[in-house]
Amino acid sequence: MSEYDGTSVTGAGGAADQRMTDRETGQSLTDRQGHPIADNQNLRTVGNRGPTTLENYHFLEKITHFDRERTPERVVHARGAGAHGYFEAYGKVGEEPIAKYTRAKLFQEAGKRTPLFVRFSSVIHGGHSPETLRDPRGFAVKFYTGDGNWDLVGNNLKVFFIRDAMKFPDLVHAFKPDPVTNRQDTVRIFDFVSNSPEALHMVTFLFSPWGIPANYRQMQGSGVNTYKWVNSEGQAVLVKYHWEPKQGIKNLTQTEAESVQGKNFNHATQDLYEAIERGDYPEWELCVQIMSDDYHPELSFDPLDPTKLWPPEQFPFLPVGRMVLDRNPQNYFAEVEQAAFGTGVLVDGLDFSDDKLLQGRTFSYSDTQRYRVGSNYLQLPINAPKKRVATNQRDGQMALFVDSPPGTNPHVNYEPTSLGGIVEAGKGDPEYTPRIEGNLVREPIDRPNNYEQAGDRFRMFEDWEREELIANLINALAPAPEVVRGKMVEHFTKCDSEYGRRVKEGLDARGPGDGTGGPMGAAKAAQAVLEAERDGHSASPY
Ligand code: HEM
Repeated sequence: MSEYDGTSVTGAGGAADQRMTDRETGQSLTDRQGHPIADNQNLRTVGNRGPTTLENYHFLEKITHFDRERTPERVVHARGAGAHGYFEAYGKVGEEPIAKYTRAKLFQEAGKRTPLFVRFSSVIHGGHSPETLRDPRGFAVKFYTGDGNWDLVGNNLKVFFIRDAMKFPDLVHAFKPDPVTNRQDTVRIFDFVSNSPEALHMVTFLFSPWGIPANYRQMQGSGVNTYKWVNSEGQAVLVKYHWEPKQGIKNLTQTEAESVQGKNFNHATQDLYEAIERGDYPEWELCVQIMSDDYHPELSFDPLDPTKLWPPEQFPFLPVGRMVLDRNPQNYFAEVEQAAFGTGVLVDGLDFSDDKLLQGRTFSYSDTQRYRVGSNYLQLPINAPKKRVATNQRDGQMALFVDSPPGTNPHVNYEPTSLGGIVEAGKGDPEYTPRIEGNLVREPIDRPNNYEQAGDRFRMFEDWEREELIANLINALAPAPEVVRGKMVEHFTKCDSEYGRRVKEGLDARGPGDGTGGPMGAAKAAQAVLEAERDGHSASPY
């Protein structure tokens, strides 16, 4: 080894670099400066009882890095699990050639595989909260296509609470813990919901067994929002996306979930990881529903309203491909925690619709990721496309490299240029250019129809699902003051008279609420507090 080996700036200097001092082996410890560490047990102290000295570089590097191990967790969907896999296209949408509707390359050829990464999540509580909670589940897929990344950021349930992005922070605040007591409180939740009747459809799903999927493998996924597909002539249609699990769908009752939670609060993460490790790869079929891109006055709802389902009898589910998850992440933080999905991340042939919730989302995701992960989050391997990147974006915290392609002039970090910098790519197929005209207003949509589909769902449930829905709603609403209860009963009655009557009867039987709610759906939240005090085993101080 020459005296200068190890100082060359061309070396990678990472864990795979084989250059080492005489004191090291392939297994031995160093610090991040490359210094071999001979003592990782003892601080450097004056005598073996201390005091410690401040020049303990190895200790300082180790402890200060530890102090910074967490980045801010996601403001929603903090608890999650991820896996790698692939998407295999059928080349068709239902029985028709898919090119009729979209030119997106990943779909065109039967059998074509696109690598992807999926992150499943729950929504409201923190990074290590139980995976049995009544909560929607996130279903976010990042396709690394030849045309760059496509993120399909969906949920397990096919509708959402609200239809206007303006209301999202309020919705989340109502569902998150109370800012004073730090507890989730159904009184706050129903205070918000009773004043936001567009949430009735989603609430009907959420308080039924569909609000607690058994695990991540046995649940559906949905894009929820309406998107567009664009073909090579620049013509577009509206689409909704659905992931249908080959493993079947399983949901838990509140009692079953409480039992699972008492034994294992990580059961869904464990289930996914272990299924993949044993080669039992979970699989979903991707289906779309298609509608022409117009107002559709014949429908009782607006096709851009994410609180609505498109009736499958009218708009059938058309399969377009399948997804298989066959590889676990090697490092949770690097791959799952730092993964950044967003609804703005589309490829040629896919487009946004004017769905107002979708437009708000599209701003929010990359904005929060620049804060949560950092301004260069797209240079991280999990987020970077699996293709060439060439930008004039420079610097910022943790810039890993410069996006200057080989052969371009490194002095030119701007465009346009005549001096050999990056130039615009060639034009592709014609864009879809819908004509938009109207007054600039702040107004709700014309066809809110908040109750019809919620009532349909109530009637469509199996008996045990309806029983469970009513019981969970009564438990959640029992502590609420009359002003909230009364409004909710009125809403349920507008969905279906039996729905309203049953909730009202259950609430009347409970007597007036004391104003202190508990976690969503929990049957005996207040009793648990008393139980812990009463049944706890006394111990003597030591
Ligand atoms: C205006 C409405 C919405 C806003 C502003 C919003 C905003 C956000 C934000 C800020 C995050 C954290 C992202 C991160 O830190 O990486 C997030 C995560 C997420 N959201 Fe939304 N969201 C909205 C509605 C929805 C809807 C309707 C769905 C389902 C279709 C959804 C699904 C998800 C999922 C799955 C994640 C987690 C992604 C991951 O696994 O990293 N969100 N959302």
